[in-house]
Amino acid sequence: MTASKRIVLSSDHGAIELRQAIAAHVTSRGWLAVDIGPTTSESTNYPEHGAAAARLVASGDCQLGIVLCGTGQGIMMAANKVKGIRCGVCADTFSARMLREHNDANMLSLGARVVGQGLALDIVDAFLAAEFEGGRHALRVDMISALEA
Ligand code: RB5
Repeated sequence: MTASKRIVLSSDHGAIELRQAIAAHVTSRGWLAVDIGPTTSESTNYPEHGAAAARLVASGDCQLGIVLCGTGQGIMMAANKVKGIRCGVCADTFSARMLREHNDANMLSLGARVVGQGLALDIVDAFLAAEFEGGRHALRVDMISALEA
């Protein structure tokens, strides 16, 4: 792993502490964390943060992205509106592994009101360690992409 592997992180106001812990964690795993905030706990709107992170992944500036809100659901929905993004919410490590191996996801979403920090970091590790299996899954992922046309 080299520092050229860039991962963007973003959240709404409900997940700032967890996002910052994840930023430190992925850095310790050799990733360059591109943490685009926000940094204050002032109430904010998750769609803009999900979209901003997703655009950095879709453009190729970052290889992967992690977004967080209270449940992980709203910011995931926003990220998935950006063409080329496949983002899923995970609250367990099996789903996080499958999200990469079968769905070739390029973004992970977490709910700060759903998972504690310990589990969240394990989920992140599972997501980062897994690789897309291709094969029959490639056809299905291509079919998802075709829906964007
Ligand atoms: C904010 O109150 C909350 O709605 C948001 O963090 C998220 O859970 C939405 O999906």
